[in-house]
Amino acid sequence: MTSTGSNKAPHVPVLVNEVVAALAIHDGETVVDGTFGAGGYTRAMLSAGAGRVIGFDRDPDAIDAGKSLVPDSRLTLVNERFSQMDRVLADRGIGLVDAIALDIGVSSMQIDTAARGFSFQADGPLDMRMEKSGLTAAEFLNSADEADIARVLRDYGEEPRARAIARAIVAARPVERTAELAAIVRRAAGFRPGQKADPATRTFQAIRIHLNAELDELEEGLEAAERALKPGGRLAVVTFHSLEDRIVKRFLRERSGATPGGSRHRPALTDPTEPTFERVAKPVAPSDEEIARNPRARSARLRSAIRTSAKPWKETLQ
Ligand SMILES: C[S@@+](CC[C@H](N)C(=O)[O-])C[C@H]1O[C@@H](n2cnc3c(N)ncnc32)[C@H](O)[C@@H]1O
Repeated sequence: MTSTGSNKAPHVPVLVNEVVAALAIHDGETVVDGTFGAGGYTRAMLSAGAGRVIGFDRDPDAIDAGKSLVPDSRLTLVNERFSQMDRVLADRGIGLVDAIALDIGVSSMQIDTAARGFSFQADGPLDMRMEKSGLTAAEFLNSADEADIARVLRDYGEEPRARAIARAIVAARPVERTAELAAIVRRAAGFRPGQKADPATRTFQAIRIHLNAELDELEEGLEAAERALKPGGRLAVVTFHSLEDRIVKRFLRERSGATPGGSRHRPALTDPTEPTFERVAKPVAPSDEEIARNPRARSARLRSAIRTSAKPWKETLQ
């Protein structure tokens, strides 16, 4: 990481012991860390005996910093989205893997680096692009229709005052800085200092999710993991808000045949949707002690399951 002020607070991995327990790594196994970040999960996977870890991150800064964060010859770093993992693993001749972890969302380094524009706590350019390419948050907010902005705030931020905030953003254009956007949102949402939840949190989350197509990535990442895991392979996914958790919960319910009217009622031999996951575990939340130590863990949920030998429901990427 090169920009000043970056990487001040290292990312504290969330639910890491629980994730490693769910991954049940045996000595020498090949494991995917789909969201390398600061390498917290990767380090834990290596300590648990992984013979090889393939660490993916869509953020080039995370990959650049990764080699010095985790100097271990068993680690291969890949600057790709996790939705591409099965293709990358096949291209590199690695094939199917024993376990996969996904830790959804942004890292502390991304949030704490003002120049990346993810945070309203420190002023910076309105950027918010994990990959450092494509449309910036400023470009989106300064060109989109008011109705489109409102839809993003409602769908991805569950913002009840989406319309009023979108109207205020459009009236204030051009909006270029995170502090400017936070002030506009607080005014439009009637925020008073001392009030518990800052409404800027929801707006920033919504714009970030939209720009980085994070929910589509999560759905496609789960499908890629289904294709990339060996029979008996373990999947562990940590999410940070209900929109993401719902996607993982629905995927595992459906793929394990637990969705009403789903695959288990169809004849086994001709069934194109035989369960691809089993032993879906109850969701795991962080302990009070972890939340006290790391408040960012507060809303985290871990879901995990085990791959069966059934064919993936979606064989290839579209
Ligand atoms: C919450 S952090 C992961 C932290 C990591 N578990 C650790 O212990 O250091 C999420 C990371 O995943 C990356 N990321 C988010 N979506 C991604 C995607 N679709 N593909 C690859 N990386 C992604 C982000 O760039 C960020 O670095």
